[in-house]
Amino acid sequence: MERIRNAAIREKITTPEAAAAYIRDGMTVGASGFTVIGYPKVIPAELAKRAAAGETLGITLITGGNVGDQLDGVLARSGVLRRRYGYQSNKDLRSLINADQVKYVDTHVSHVPYMVKNGYLGKIDVAVLEVAGVDEKGRLISTCAVGIIDILAKYADKIILEVNSSVPAAVEGMHDILTLERAPHTPIIPIVKPDDRVGSPYIECDPEKIVAVVLTDGADINQDLMAPDADMEAIASHIITFLKEEVRAGRLPDPLPPFQSGVGGVANAVLAGLAKSDLEHLTVYTEVMQDAVVDLIDAGKVSSACGTALTISPSRRDDFYARLDEYKNKIILRPQEISNAPEVIRRLSVIAMNTAIEADLAGNVNSTHIGGVSIMNGLGGSADYCRNSGLSIFSTASTAKNGTISCIVPHVTHVDHTEHDTEIIVTEQGLADLRGLTAYERAELMIETCAHPKFRPELRAYLDRARAEAKAFHAIP
Ligand code: COA
Repeated sequence: MERIRNAAIREKITTPEAAAAYIRDGMTVGASGFTVIGYPKVIPAELAKRAAAGETLGITLITGGNVGDQLDGVLARSGVLRRRYGYQSNKDLRSLINADQVKYVDTHVSHVPYMVKNGYLGKIDVAVLEVAGVDEKGRLISTCAVGIIDILAKYADKIILEVNSSVPAAVEGMHDILTLERAPHTPIIPIVKPDDRVGSPYIECDPEKIVAVVLTDGADINQDLMAPDADMEAIASHIITFLKEEVRAGRLPDPLPPFQSGVGGVANAVLAGLAKSDLEHLTVYTEVMQDAVVDLIDAGKVSSACGTALTISPSRRDDFYARLDEYKNKIILRPQEISNAPEVIRRLSVIAMNTAIEADLAGNVNSTHIGGVSIMNGLGGSADYCRNSGLSIFSTASTAKNGTISCIVPHVTHVDHTEHDTEIIVTEQGLADLRGLTAYERAELMIETCAHPKFRPELRAYLDRARAEAKAFHAIP
């Protein structure tokens, strides 16, 4: 109860069943949560219960980023989830999307808030927001994931709050909430350094719209990050060697511009590699901060880091939460409309590091589809950063499925990032700097540096054929 410091909002505490009754068949529901942190857990279970009891109940769900199984998995398996917007990474939901039983629209992280504000996805009937608390003025205190919570609070018709006491109270004050007006009234975002605070620690919310509040202490269920394997370490080492050379040659400044690092083990391994390197005074301007960001802060390498979510592996979470106060002046949590804003990413000249499923000889990257037909997760914020960064790096192992499939291919089966936006492609085999190279030069370099040696002859044969045919086609008589 002490988490809710506003008496009028305290009076709205009710049972999960009564709160969930505000959600009915055919509604569009917005939910908090990003990288499996800060998503509602109680209301989805109630909706699934109603569907299991025979009620016809189907909803469209919009989130800022991927959420836990207690939301996406529970709603997908119960048949309640009919349409889904926002990055997702749930195994069961993925299967239903690929079977066309749940309609999924993959959207840039920076576009989701924009689309909600402008009504492009229809109106939000109900927003279900997990929060760490409510202050005296009725403003919301976010969890370690901000995402689109500020946008949902502003644009949803009705709001249900899940106040989660498992989120440390010390998170209060870590947020910097700047909610942009709709275009054409969107102001300049005045961030010129990753640690600039330009908003308020609290989320404005009309108390009249809050129809129900439920109390919970359910933990986020995310997974421990994989310990870096030899391939990941090799990729990290190639990137660090390259960055150091860029500094030495004067193409990058010292200290380096802020880093963005994508999701998953490779991304974490690169940052872990930075912690061991002799690069100093690093900063982070990213979407999600994973374990390695904390290690970089602990190692004294990173002076400031910001993102829209802070996702720590469960095995490290208790220790991290216990020390949250120590990180308060070094970590800032922002809405995703700010963390992924093209304007800020470009101004800060961010070094973007994302993961690919496959890359082709021209440098086009597929981040989302296996074999061109089955979606894996979604493109998340990778394109927000890649397109607008000062330096865009994509990494992947050179092969998948125990070495049977080459991740360097003649043409990607699905394009998420075009050759015009990707600059550096790196595998455990080596790093290809594609800047300033022609199509043939790129292809040669991709084969020689990134492809696995066992696939190089096939790729080379393809390139030779393509070259011969192009030459014949363009022959001047
Ligand atoms: N062909 C076939 N399968 C492939 C493949 C290829 N070229 N490359 C990878 N795979 C398979 C893997 O074998 C694995 O299969 P499994 O689940 O059956 O084991 C699966 O795809 C995932 O590969 P993995 O290497 O474990 O992926 P990851 O955890 O490093 O994630 C992405 C890679 C691309 C899926 C992930 O980074 C992502 O979703 N990116 C897009 C969003 C993003 O970049 N967000 C960051 C912005 S801040």
